[in-house]
Amino acid sequence: MDKLGVLLVSYGAREVAMADTLLRSKNHNVQLYVADKQCNPYNAKHAAKHAVIPSLDVNEICRFAEANKTDLDFVLVGSENPIIKGIRDLIEAKVGIPVICPKKAYAIEESKVAQRLLFEEIAPEANPRFKVFDPAQYKSEAEAKSAVYRWLDELDNQVAVKPDKPALGKGVGVWGDHFTTREQLWEHFLSNFKYGAVILEEKVPGEESSCMGFCDGKHFIPLPDTRDYKRAFDDDRGPNTGGMGSYKDAKDYLPFLTAADREAELALAEKVFKGWRKKIPDDTALRGVPLYLAFMHTGKGIKILEINSRPGDPEIMNLLPVIKDDFADVCLRMIDGNLTSVEMHKSATVLTYKVPPDYGGYSKVHAGKLDRAAVGGPVDLSKAEALSKKYGDKIRIYPGSMELRDGKNYALKSRVIGILGIGKDIEEARTISQEGAKAITGGALWNRTDVAAKDHIAKSIKKMEQLRKA
Ligand code: AMP
Ligand code: GLY
Repeated sequence: MDKLGVLLVSYGAREVAMADTLLRSKNHNVQLYVADKQCNPYNAKHAAKHAVIPSLDVNEICRFAEANKTDLDFVLVGSENPIIKGIRDLIEAKVGIPVICPKKAYAIEESKVAQRLLFEEIAPEANPRFKVFDPAQYKSEAEAKSAVYRWLDELDNQVAVKPDKPALGKGVGVWGDHFTTREQLWEHFLSNFKYGAVILEEKVPGEESSCMGFCDGKHFIPLPDTRDYKRAFDDDRGPNTGGMGSYKDAKDYLPFLTAADREAELALAEKVFKGWRKKIPDDTALRGVPLYLAFMHTGKGIKILEINSRPGDPEIMNLLPVIKDDFADVCLRMIDGNLTSVEMHKSATVLTYKVPPDYGGYSKVHAGKLDRAAVGGPVDLSKAEALSKKYGDKIRIYPGSMELRDGKNYALKSRVIGILGIGKDIEEARTISQEGAKAITGGALWNRTDVAAKDHIAKSIKKMEQLRKA
């Protein structure tokens, strides 16, 4: 088997899932080089070479690539910051190795305003009503405030507040969920407005799905739908987070959607891709996962909440392990420009994230439930890893914001560890994921217990029925 040298730029569990999927390649002997945000225990164990670059600074990553260039076939990037900072342009120009992610100019995740304007041109039906408030347009705060309040009058306060620039999933505020008075909304607006433009868009009711696809620059190959659990606590309470868990059904679409909804999603994704592609002269610029679409299904059509220029975290973990094709070959086809299909297993998957005590404000809201003695202590993965004796390949443990120190694992500040269950249906996958989550002890980590739960899904089904009837 030929050796395939891959440099993975790794932020957390999402990239560990990429590494794990690559290392299971049957067609290639993958040699993993990792530029790591911290000493992630999975990467430390499996990488042929491992460099810790806490800032994930693109110049430092480029130097690591240069130093190992003769052993590398390509670079794979998962997280937004290096993509937005132009890692692809830099490494391809300086080192000459192909990089799998979009080019800087097309990392459209960088601007929610640019996204809304693009959809206005290509697929206006998928845009909620919106207005951009740019600090440069207003002479005073008072002037901006009265413009904002006039727009609130027009939309009857039913808005989502969105900073133009990414804020790690934490900048968006929604009327009724995050604030219930104009004063609270204004405060949230201002906290973002001081850094740049803010969008106020119509709050659209519905159920969400995530749809992302691999792309060789010319072809966009959509993957099955996934559902992200954004809010911190069970029953969708608490602040938005990066995502506390996610699921995928055995079929390509989610249990609360229909085959027709899926067709509509695919048509919209293709329309956005084709319309956008037409404006881009470079045939390879959109390589990677240039379009990760967050859809809102309203019962009367689909709205796009946002697009990202990278794989979703956690959602890509629901997809990578159930790709039937060899993932290393998928990567090579993205580079060669001949990725025309990706075969998937018909399995359901459920991902549950364990997170540290302060994540999502848990330690304040649920102080009574915290095991204080365990806070900051080592995390024991051994019982969860031993579950592979019972479940075989149906359980995967992906360390994320976790650091190996003196032979022990410690939780850092973000999402610590993703536990994926794979099954013939959602229930089986969920049972495995939850059992894995329970088996991880130490560090006072916690997790949502209702990811892909029957009741949660039943609520989505009911809501969609009502929206379709309304
Ligand atoms: P985003 O970062 O744009 O994905 O937004 C985070 C979350 O805010 C989404 O997952 C939705 O739950 C919610 N959201 C964003 N935009 C809207 C909108 N226009 N209407 C209703 N909810 C929204
Ligand atoms: N799951 C949300 C994100 O990746 O942005």
